[in-house]
Amino acid sequence: MSKTVDAHWYDLFERRGSRRDFLRVGASAAGLVALGALPGCAGGRALRFTTYPFALGVASGDPTPDGVVLWARLAVMSVREAGFGTDPVQVRWEVSEDDRFSRIVRSGSAEGRPELGHSVHVEVEGLRPGREYFYRMIAGGEVSPVGRTKTTPDPMSEPDRIDFAFLSCQHFEQGYHTGLRHLSEESLDLIVHLGDYIYEGAAAEGRPRRHEGTEECLTLEQYRARYATYRGDVNLQAAHAAAPWVVSPDDHEVDNNWAGVHPEDDQSPEAFLLRRAAAFQAYYEFMPLRRSSMPVGPDMQIYRRLGFGRLLDINVLDTRQYRSDQPCEDTVGPTCAQHVEPGRTLLGASQRAWLFDGLGESRAQWNALAQQVLVAHLRGRNREGDEIWSMDKWDGYPVEREAVLDVLGDSGAANPVVLTGDIHSSWVTRLLRDFDDERSEAVGTEFVCTSISSGGDGQAMTAWGEDAVRENAHVDFYDGRRGYVVASVTPERWTSTYRVVPVVEEPNGPVETLARFVVESGRAGAERL
Ligand SMILES: [Fe+2]
Repeated sequence: MSKTVDAHWYDLFERRGSRRDFLRVGASAAGLVALGALPGCAGGRALRFTTYPFALGVASGDPTPDGVVLWARLAVMSVREAGFGTDPVQVRWEVSEDDRFSRIVRSGSAEGRPELGHSVHVEVEGLRPGREYFYRMIAGGEVSPVGRTKTTPDPMSEPDRIDFAFLSCQHFEQGYHTGLRHLSEESLDLIVHLGDYIYEGAAAEGRPRRHEGTEECLTLEQYRARYATYRGDVNLQAAHAAAPWVVSPDDHEVDNNWAGVHPEDDQSPEAFLLRRAAAFQAYYEFMPLRRSSMPVGPDMQIYRRLGFGRLLDINVLDTRQYRSDQPCEDTVGPTCAQHVEPGRTLLGASQRAWLFDGLGESRAQWNALAQQVLVAHLRGRNREGDEIWSMDKWDGYPVEREAVLDVLGDSGAANPVVLTGDIHSSWVTRLLRDFDDERSEAVGTEFVCTSISSGGDGQAMTAWGEDAVRENAHVDFYDGRRGYVVASVTPERWTSTYRVVPVVEEPNGPVETLARFVVESGRAGAERL
């Protein structure tokens, strides 16, 4: 695709609407008319679109053994041009066992309300566990692209294998979403997005692509426009259409390095909470989330748990909403008194209790924590030789980290594995019970995925990576390029395959396997294959 087209995605989808080269459009609208399957209308008026309403694609998410969330958001201008800008729109949905929709097993109608940007979140029930399904939406005679999804296995079952990918940090301007295209071609049960789905900053010159927005996002309209730009990317659409997603935001969905009620920017807590409410609403409108995650004002329930039979539990964490402000002025710098104050938290009391209780009760063979910021301590020094800490990461919250590591070691939950994003580079670490003693017990394994596009092409080794590997014996791997990780989990072992996309500043870069790391059940720490 050309840079010219990229620059105008917001115009195409949020302002004018456009029919694009969709993946697999199902049955024709004419066929549906013949079957009498067209959805209804609002206020007695027939709904007819002049521009394609499903230009943002489809998505599914948060699977359970018997269901999944189906998502679509009608293009704003398509709805306005149809005269339904302030009215609800009925959207028909269909779930089929095959991608030709000859074996439809569930169907119904959902309401896309203007207050939620004409998004629909359908919580389908009554599906069979561990099964692949296909879905599509229909409104005003227009049929959406077809998505593939999958339910999770029966809770009492013992699956042979689960394959899922995790990824983070997809800055639109800093690179192409080529990695998402490659990701869409992997055979996956699930895709886990660890945050920085959008970046909130103003458009900038001199980057591979340009998005809308001359100011940093603050209002609902600005955040909506930013998501529309991202969702206009056909590679992102392909990844959403390929498998169910489980999402958890990091900081850039709202504001760089925000913490609880504290923004990075110069805003009062009240102004920031209004901004947080706008950012969360836009996030919900664009994500395949359950109603349990629908924001109420500035609050959104993000932490949740997914089970894959007896094989795997994934604890999805929220490391922004409940955290204490970063200590010591949120720098990468020397410690200060505030740094080690007891009571400072990254998880918040409720989420921490929920996590610790869940780990204590888990019967899963593998227990994953899907979260945002690096858990492992990274020992480093500044030019003056003082020890420095990155205060936005778990290194800024050492007292609570110690409690988490103790629970990973002592809760009885088998095989803890932490999945991390945020730092735009690939890492493998051993989570030591005491990071001051490199010979102390490893209580878990941490796999850090790099960014999809944030940071541009990058390079395999950087000065930061060299220092980190040299100074920290528990760091087993570093790479500074773009990509994602595919995890293949069996009862005996967890294999993390690091996939690298060396070129993202130009479109259509290839994907390569960079490295494979294996954790054997019963022994924390990964070995490179
Ligand atoms: Fe990021």
